[in-house]
Amino acid sequence: MDTVNRRNAMKAGGALGMFGALAMMTPARAQPWTWSPQGSVAGTGAGLDPMTVWDAEADPVVAGLLDRGEVPRVNELLRTWTKNGQPLPAGLPTELRDFMEYARQLPHWTDPGKLGTAVEFNKKRGLYLGVLYGLASGMMSTVIPKEARAVYYSKGGHDLKDRISKTAKLGYDIGTANAYAPDGEMVVTCVKTRLVHAAVRHLLPRSPHWVASAEEDIPISQNDIMVTWHSLPTTVMKHLTAWNVPIPPHESDAFLHSWQVAAHMLGVRDEYIPNSWPEANSQAAQVLDPIIAPTPEGVQLADRLLRLGVNLDLAVLSKPVLGAFTRFLLGDQIADGLAIPREPVWDPLLRLSWGPFIAVREGLLPVVPLAPDAYWLFDEFLRQAALIYLAELRLPISIELPMMNRDM
Ligand code: HEM
Repeated sequence: MDTVNRRNAMKAGGALGMFGALAMMTPARAQPWTWSPQGSVAGTGAGLDPMTVWDAEADPVVAGLLDRGEVPRVNELLRTWTKNGQPLPAGLPTELRDFMEYARQLPHWTDPGKLGTAVEFNKKRGLYLGVLYGLASGMMSTVIPKEARAVYYSKGGHDLKDRISKTAKLGYDIGTANAYAPDGEMVVTCVKTRLVHAAVRHLLPRSPHWVASAEEDIPISQNDIMVTWHSLPTTVMKHLTAWNVPIPPHESDAFLHSWQVAAHMLGVRDEYIPNSWPEANSQAAQVLDPIIAPTPEGVQLADRLLRLGVNLDLAVLSKPVLGAFTRFLLGDQIADGLAIPREPVWDPLLRLSWGPFIAVREGLLPVVPLAPDAYWLFDEFLRQAALIYLAELRLPISIELPMMNRDM
């Protein structure tokens, strides 16, 4: 519950003007935690509210690195660690090395068969996945208040393009054929991200800007990670289902599995990782749906996200078109909250014609019921949207531990 505390008093002081009042109304999860660990991959657990759980294994290790000024040296060493099967570089502080050796192990419940099927699914559905990760999950991250504020006030907040390329790397790595295999990179990406999150937990509470706007004392709880997780696979699957894309159950299950493994590798306890889509949907209804709200920080991040296509000279991906697609995917309430203008042509076109377009694309409708122009535009949209995110992945990307917050 959003209790009256020192932070709310500061917000009421008008630091953020009109938006400050809006930020005050953004709900944290108001209901007590009731999701049962029986629906998790562990099948059992203490049932502790994950809002009160962070990462007891990584947090003290990384806090120590920051306090002792060891981060620059660690970042330099970890730049050379890129493949899952690669030994850790020599010279890491012992405590960190021990943690990383432990954290890089895949969970005992990993199913290589399912991971193989997930690769097939990612190959078949790559075009849709690119658009959905980018526009549905990406834009949704701006209306998850705690995430928007954490991102905005952390070091990465000042260079959104750089941050997006790093986050896109995780979305890319999980879809590669060897994601979790020794020659893949997903384990490395997850372990490094787990360390970055631990650093953020140590750093953000020292940012006066974050302290003034955030409800929580320590960011990125296990609850928060699962909220963001649901903005990824759960949201993607929701849209694919709504679009009537035919997905055999074993493929949908495999896709879920690849993300269950990711959650574990990011440090989420097994008792919070849903064991099925119905369990995932029920958890999302509890942790994600009720907390979606615009914040001043999120509105600015969304605006910058929607301008990403501009530099790439991709005609179909102007800010208005990306805005219309966001409205189509996430609904009027979120789009209005993000101050996305209504588009008189694209809004109705997407509402009326996207469904039939997908049906034709999937061979479910034999006759083209659309004007060929609209069909061409939509097809071009899918291809170009995938390109935006690929363009962000051109350079070698190194996920590094931050040493400070954003310089405001
Ligand atoms: C950093 C992914 C959850 C806030 C990162 C990075 C990745 C990532 C790949 C490294 C990129 C970089 O260094 O910029 C994920 C995934 C999540 C998740 C897959 C859940 C499934 C969260 C949540 C929050 C958060 C819940 C906040 C509430 C941040 C921040 C950074 C970061 C502040 C650091 C940016 C900086 O360098 O300053 N995350 N994240 N993340 N993440 Fe997450």
